Amino acid sequence: MSSVGDFAGLWEPRPGWLNTASYGLPPRPAWEALQAALGDWQVGATSWEPWDESTTRARESFARLVGADAADVFVGSTVSAALAPIADSLPDGSTVLVDDIEFTSNVFPWKVHEDRGIHVVSAGTDKLLDAIRPGIDLVAVSAVQSATGTVLDLAKVVAASKEVGALLVVDASQAVGWLPLDVAGVDALVAHAYKWMMSPRGATLGYLSPRLQERCRPMAAGWYAGEDVHSSYYGTRMRLAKGARRFDQSPAWFCFVGAAPALELIEQIGVEEIYRHNLGLANEFRAGLGLPPGDSAIVSAELPGAEEAFAAAGIRAAVRGGRLRASFHVYSTEADVQLALKALEGLIT
Ligand SMILES: Cc1ncc(COP(=O)(O)O)c(C=O)c1O
Repeated sequence: MSSVGDFAGLWEPRPGWLNTASYGLPPRPAWEALQAALGDWQVGATSWEPWDESTTRARESFARLVGADAADVFVGSTVSAALAPIADSLPDGSTVLVDDIEFTSNVFPWKVHEDRGIHVVSAGTDKLLDAIRPGIDLVAVSAVQSATGTVLDLAKVVAASKEVGALLVVDASQAVGWLPLDVAGVDALVAHAYKWMMSPRGATLGYLSPRLQERCRPMAAGWYAGEDVHSSYYGTRMRLAKGARRFDQSPAWFCFVGAAPALELIEQIGVEEIYRHNLGLANEFRAGLGLPPGDSAIVSAELPGAEEAFAAAGIRAAVRGGRLRASFHVYSTEADVQLALKALEGLIT
């Protein structure tokens, strides 16, 4: 079995990058594929089809990562745009439940339908399960919360949603790439690949269950959603792809050129192995802060002065809701943890 250490040379992070929850760093195969494509673009060396092969590779790799059939996976550019057809499919007067601190790309797509009676209600992360009650039509929640790093108990949310007959839509942007998970029992799972999948921003992938595919109108359909892409360029005849591909937005080529090798590398290393590595470092950092072990690659801590201390030490992390947010991924090291703890020395009681 391989370990994260076997692949360490594939990244070149400047020490102190603790902000994968904002964006992930590209592994060398992704960086090189992107540079090659940009070079070809600059001189017109090729048609676009070779770039587009990356979209298929990324779709298939993502499908394997989340335990889906590739026929149920669509590609797009952002989470919010990917969710728009699902929101559009909700009957007037539906009620959507979100987390109080849900990232707004998984809130606004529902809220923009308020004028037709779509009602968005929210509950605190620790109360979310209890809030899945009769009358909730759709639960929209992140597998890992962006602001706090809280990991959703997906099995429990799947069971609770099923019990009340609610659809379940998961934003897995902070999860796919480090957290083992699969789409069993989920109606839609969408993830932007620029964080834990270490891809360029602009490559989003999503799973849509066959029953949801039937309910949704492919609102962003264009030539790329055609059953045969190459005979769908012109005219009024529209024959859309049968599976989730009819929900594709025509891809931003270079984003997917970078995404395919990154996703395939995640598969090669193994998500379980990345999970073990990330959690090991996150918990070492937590221990240094005097916190008990957690279950997330994202550490959120109340530590006044941390932002300034990190800035002075050249450590790049984030502050969310007044709390320090430090995140650890496959290229993070023990040296990063030690650097961060040293920078915070005077603040830890
Ligand atoms: C949970 C989550 N979803 C989505 C996004 C990005 O949303 P979008 O793809 O709509 O820009 C982020 C970015 O921080 C996020 O944390």
